[in-house]
Amino acid sequence: MLKDKKILLGITGGIAAYKAVDLASKLTNMGAEVKTIMTSHACEFVSPITFKSVTHQPIITKMFDAESDIEHISLADWADLVVIAPATANIIGKTASGIADDLLSTTIMATTVPVLFVPAMNIHMYENPIVQENITKLSNLGYFFMEPEFGILACGYKGKGRYPENEEIIFYIITYLKYKKDLFGRNVLVTAGASQEEIDPMRFITNYSTGKMGLALARAAHIRGARVKFIHSSIGVNVPEYLDSIKAVSAEKMHSAVLREYSNSDIIFMTAAVADYKPAVPSKQKIKKSGDLNLKLKRTKDILKELGERKTSDQILVGFAAESENLKENALQKIEKKNLDFICANNLNVSGKDDTEILVLGEGAEIKLIGNKFSVAHQIIDVILKSTKK
Ligand code: CTP
Repeated sequence: MLKDKKILLGITGGIAAYKAVDLASKLTNMGAEVKTIMTSHACEFVSPITFKSVTHQPIITKMFDAESDIEHISLADWADLVVIAPATANIIGKTASGIADDLLSTTIMATTVPVLFVPAMNIHMYENPIVQENITKLSNLGYFFMEPEFGILACGYKGKGRYPENEEIIFYIITYLKYKKDLFGRNVLVTAGASQEEIDPMRFITNYSTGKMGLALARAAHIRGARVKFIHSSIGVNVPEYLDSIKAVSAEKMHSAVLREYSNSDIIFMTAAVADYKPAVPSKQKIKKSGDLNLKLKRTKDILKELGERKTSDQILVGFAAESENLKENALQKIEKKNLDFICANNLNVSGKDDTEILVLGEGAEIKLIGNKFSVAHQIIDVILKSTKK
């Protein structure tokens, strides 16, 4: 499955270094060529010979090794993917600060391929705002991070900081290696989040949408080389700085922002949970309580319907539908009504926080996708790229 893939494995000095032996072994057995760089602290935990035995490759531990015939910069160019597992607070901090003072940090700085960090450390270290700020900074710059697992840590504490299962790391590795830049040159527009419709200066109407699915699609499209425009209303997640984003909180603001970008977009994902109604006349002053209150609502513009009406033959329009009943029938009706190419329908009763279950319909496709939102996002893009239209 990983045949001909070149993975540069960076091992730093944490107790989980011994678990990375199994990772190196599994990756090698799956056909990858694995070269390993160990920091001097990592060598305190595991002998380089152990990694050499499972990868059948020389292990590089020093920057200027007269014995080694491997030039350190060439390693940065050689790899398809760099994986730092386990990644200590130190290597994350060094990378975030642009420090390149040993072979591993120099290689990370010199490489242009994706870098995946697998942090594993004491819970207080992981939760330290400095470490978190470094992770956010690097994520915004396009570095990838896996979340550590929750459990008993080597230091005796219970919490988040454990090295994840190697199978899970391998899943991430396959994801990053699999998706080549097949959206390169395409303009992708993604909307996300819950609109807020003002009742008065203090109150608004909104819904439960977190914006996670939209963000997953935007990130996936970005990884695959698209120029992504991310238009969002209220969302419960941080928008990475590498995404070109516009905030449009109300249905009306979203309508104008989306229409401004539409003619320049090749693929459009309307994941935003746009309000169908808004207060007819929002009060300029805070409404004081007295008896019962009747709030008059009026319809907002249906953005997606308008996009369907204006769609050109080379644009791909993807709508989203959250349904609590008759999922397929309702979704198919929306394809017709709004002139969509695809609709991604999810059942409100089974949608979870980070996982989702989506039925993709359109262009002859009827595919059920289940999993975490990031992997489902990639699969939705796969379905679209396989469609007859493109
Ligand atoms: N949408 C939109 N503009 C609106 C409302 C929804 O563009 N004012 C988009 C959403 O982004 C989503 C799709 O339309 O892609 C949802 O379809 P819709 O028929 O509006 O679903 P619901 O809002 O759930 O409507 P209904 O209550 O009729 O099922």
